[in-house]
Amino acid sequence: MATTTHPSGTGAHAAPGGEGPSRRDFLYLTTAAVGAVGVASAVWPFVDSMNPAADTLALASIDVDLAPVQEGQAITVTWRGKPVFIRHRTAKEIEEAKKVNVAELRDPEADDKRVKKAQWLVLVGVCTHLGCIPLGQKPTDPRGDFDGWFCPCHGSHYDTAGRIRKGPAPANLVVPQYAFTSDTQIKLG
Ligand code: FES
Repeated sequence: MATTTHPSGTGAHAAPGGEGPSRRDFLYLTTAAVGAVGVASAVWPFVDSMNPAADTLALASIDVDLAPVQEGQAITVTWRGKPVFIRHRTAKEIEEAKKVNVAELRDPEADDKRVKKAQWLVLVGVCTHLGCIPLGQKPTDPRGDFDGWFCPCHGSHYDTAGRIRKGPAPANLVVPQYAFTSDTQIKLG
C-alpha cells in the first residue's frame, strides 16, 4: 500500500525570520516550480490537443507493416476490436479472383474494386452470416471450395477476393477503410 509523506514540518520552516538557507531553498523551489509550470503550459496545448486524438486514433487507425508477409502468407491484426485478414496473394489467387464472372456472384463485386494493390487483400475477418471468424489464415486451415476462407459455423465459402460463393452468408467479407502509406505499409482506418 502506498504511504503519503507531508512536507510540512521539514527544515523549510525551521529558520527564523524567513531568511537564510531555508528562504533560498524556498525561492529555488518556487523558481523551479514556475519553470516546471512554464514548461507544462507550453506543452499542454499540444498534449491537450493530441491526447483525445491519440486515444481515438489508437482505436480508429493502426499502421501495419506488410514487409515481413511473404507471397502466399497471411496475417491477422486486430482493429477496432475485430480481426482484419491481410493476405499477400499469389499470382494464382489473383488470377482466380479476376476470372470470376461477376454477374453470377451473390454479392457482385469485381476483384479490382476490392483491392488497392492486386497482391494485397485486406478484409474484416468476420463472416457476414452470423459473425463467426472464418478459417483460412493459417497454412493448415481449410480454405473452402474457392481457395479463400471457410466459415465452419454454417458452411460459408469465400473466394480469393473474400467474396461469398457458397453457403448462407449474404454478403462478401467487408473491405475496411485503409490506405497505403508506403509500398509496404498500410494505415487501417
Ligand atoms: Fe459464418 Fe454462419 S457465421 S456461416
